Amino acid sequence: MRVVIAGGHGKIALLLERLLAGRGDRAVGLIRNPAQAADVRQAGAEAVLCDLEAASADDVAALLSRGDAVVFAAGAGPGSGAPRKDSVDRAASVLMAGAAERAGVRRFVQISTMGAGQPPRPGTDEVWAAYITAKTAAEDDLRSRDLDWTILRPGRLTDAPATGRVRLAAPPVPAGTISRADVAAVIAALLGQPGTWHQTLELTGGDTPVAAAVRSTA
Ligand SMILES: NC(=O)c1ccc[n+]([C@@H]2O[C@H](COP(=O)([O-])OP(=O)(O)OC[C@H]3O[C@@H](n4cnc5c(N)ncnc54)[C@H](OP(=O)(O)O)[C@@H]3O)[C@@H](O)[C@H]2O)c1
Repeated sequence: MRVVIAGGHGKIALLLERLLAGRGDRAVGLIRNPAQAADVRQAGAEAVLCDLEAASADDVAALLSRGDAVVFAAGAGPGSGAPRKDSVDRAASVLMAGAAERAGVRRFVQISTMGAGQPPRPGTDEVWAAYITAKTAAEDDLRSRDLDWTILRPGRLTDAPATGRVRLAAPPVPAGTISRADVAAVIAALLGQPGTWHQTLELTGGDTPVAAAVRSTA
């Protein structure tokens, strides 16, 4: 399977690239900074330059033409303001999903976040509200597409080592944390699990082995 990962130098993306390479899949990491290419290659993936805030739908569709699946793992990140929540967390996901449709790449896993799907609470910090609004809009766009999508909403991310055990279910899952390594393992498992198409799933640390958790949602 050839998997194109938007945000290919992200923390989850690099972990996912290692997992995919380790099981014989081909990963392609889309990056906007050429200096990150070596890390992506080190993780076992091909690095392709593509700034998702500048690329056209045609550019991205061309990059996807030989792909079997797309993972949207990009994000504007913690230091960014409201405009980049919209241009990355929403618009870049919309761009990737549209390009996947055009290129005929049906499988699409989107990393969203717990908290998406509802309006931000009144009084919420402006940047957090923009983030939740952007993730919700990206989810809504993906649900409207003729794609085999899965929306994955992790809880608060940590850099702890993988535990191999998670709680994965349709919303609402109680708030919690999850390591990026466990998120990467869940995405790797979701990619090949057709029963998870057209599902929105929330994810935290838990007691169920990853493979069983993904099978149980299928
Ligand atoms: N933090 C949390 O607790 C939390 C919880 C739930 C969900 N999430 C979501 O989980 C996802 C992945 O998290 P993570 O920690 O792995 O993220 P991360 O390490 O911040 O990676 C995000 C990646 O997106 C890339 N990116 C940003 N703008 C781009 C552009 N214009 N074109 C191409 N790539 C671009 C960044 O590249 P640059 O290095 O070039 O900026 C970076 O490599 C994000 O969508 C995040 O919103 C986070």
